[in-house]
Amino acid sequence: MNADQLRQTYLQFFEARGHQRIASASLLPENDPTVLFTTAGMHPLVPYLLGEAHPQGWRLVNFQKCIRTNDIDEVGDPTHLTFFEMLGNWSLGDYFKQESLTWSFEFLTQVLGLPASRLAVTVFAGDADAPRDEESAAIWRKLGVPSERIYFLPKADNWWGPAGRTGPCGPDSEMFFDTGRADHPGCRPGCPCGKWLEVWNNVFMEYNKTETGQYVRLEQRNVDTGMGVERTLAVLGQMDDIFQIETIHPLIEQIEQLSGKRYSDEPRSFRIIADHLRSATFAIGDGALPSNVEAGYVVRRMLRRAVRLGRQLGLQDNFCATLSGVTIDMFASVYPELEHHRAAIANAIEAEEIKFKKTLARGLRQYQKLAQSLQERSETRISGAEAFDLFETYGFPLPLTVELAKEQGLSVDEAAFESHYQEHREASRLALGQRFKGGLADHAERTTRLHTATHLLHQALRQVIGPEVRQMGSNITEERLRFDFSAPGRLNPEQLAEVEEIVNQQIQLDLPVSLEIMPLEEAMQAGALAFFSSHYSELVKVYTIGAFSKEVCGGPHVEHTGQLGHFKIVKEEAVSQSVRRIRAVLA
Ligand code: SER
Repeated sequence: MNADQLRQTYLQFFEARGHQRIASASLLPENDPTVLFTTAGMHPLVPYLLGEAHPQGWRLVNFQKCIRTNDIDEVGDPTHLTFFEMLGNWSLGDYFKQESLTWSFEFLTQVLGLPASRLAVTVFAGDADAPRDEESAAIWRKLGVPSERIYFLPKADNWWGPAGRTGPCGPDSEMFFDTGRADHPGCRPGCPCGKWLEVWNNVFMEYNKTETGQYVRLEQRNVDTGMGVERTLAVLGQMDDIFQIETIHPLIEQIEQLSGKRYSDEPRSFRIIADHLRSATFAIGDGALPSNVEAGYVVRRMLRRAVRLGRQLGLQDNFCATLSGVTIDMFASVYPELEHHRAAIANAIEAEEIKFKKTLARGLRQYQKLAQSLQERSETRISGAEAFDLFETYGFPLPLTVELAKEQGLSVDEAAFESHYQEHREASRLALGQRFKGGLADHAERTTRLHTATHLLHQALRQVIGPEVRQMGSNITEERLRFDFSAPGRLNPEQLAEVEEIVNQQIQLDLPVSLEIMPLEEAMQAGALAFFSSHYSELVKVYTIGAFSKEVCGGPHVEHTGQLGHFKIVKEEAVSQSVRRIRAVLA
């Protein structure tokens, strides 16, 4: 079965069971600046999982392009990817476990023809938040899965979500394919040894995780399922290496042709280049041009890593644009936006490659000097100051220095780098201003001011309504901000006036806005509001406004609140039963 047959067969199977087909959403989440990329098919459906009526009804099906960066450092082995496609079907308060598990079993065994004897399943073992999922286990047994192939596992394995810090989530039941490899004591589905491949995850989203960390039952019991296209194709093709599948291998072949090297000579570099070019092509196709902010920064990092590894393989100029073209050829009929933006994607990738090569040449010379002087001193650790110099003067991001160092058996004092970064923040503001120019140029001054105003509004709403207020979406144009948030009902005129007053007070206080970079976990401990998926364990930016507000956010923001002018709410309205929308302007 090829990729398109898999997509179409899946869609048709669920359409025959009353599901409506919905389009793959953009990789850049609309109205949600707190997450960089769409990471699962459920992501664009959060409002509907929480109760809003979906225009297409209660049963939905699609395939969704996704990017996950949490495992980006694992890319290079035979199974990890940043870009992938996810097949998904949803019940929004309609069918539940019985239908969902039965259809999954039917699809795997009867449609895809996987032998039932090679499947194993996991269900939630239960804890203080939710009961043991005996119901799913009983359904699996009735379908013919023997008890010894049904594993009860804790939250760490069998609970999915929320995609942000709060939101819909629930116990899940996962389906695994037994590759036939030998097991070892303690091996079970979920073990990373490679014996068990997870092919499908059915999440029973009947909880909402609140700001206080409680799991509250939703009025609506949902099903959210996700099946990886790449993984399923690898299972069907009996391939150990996911890079052999039809929607990746043409890239490997092209790299072989361009470099004259064999895949088996340098599999790690081949895989990273292929994966990163898939991600960058799709992300740019949805508007994430390489930059120093937000999703654009991730794209820049991936392209730069590909360029660096490509040079080591002997790839010639503009190979990134060539590989991006191969990606577009593979997917253009499925994702027409790629064809539509073909020229723009190629231009952006080529420009980035040229730009980076110039910086790289200068930085590498400097790095080599540094490594040599370390060796002369018989040292193996690059100090924070040295790594910081590479960053500030040569634009070498810390991960690049760390990677180069690793290759030569050196290490980098990353913690010291961070504190240098903080110390030099003020001093380097000018230099940063230059480096950030590309990103900032996209955000007119007005949008930046409205962005900071959004943080003030968010905190003011929490003060007036309560800390359970949760950001549901944000959209900023040059004229106005639009902020969607969860609230029990409409705000009365007094509350609106109070929110306005609080925001204007903070503006009058001319509070400083500061930026710190820290691991997400640390940010949360410091009380920062964050609606990032728990997967983003990487470094995040935290913007603090005086003692008033602290949020994880990509920015950019103004330097002090006095720059905002006068804040005025122009409209308050309902988006759904529990979601309100405020439009506001700065005068
Ligand atoms: N949201 C779940 C996942 O990503 C099911 O799609 O695994």
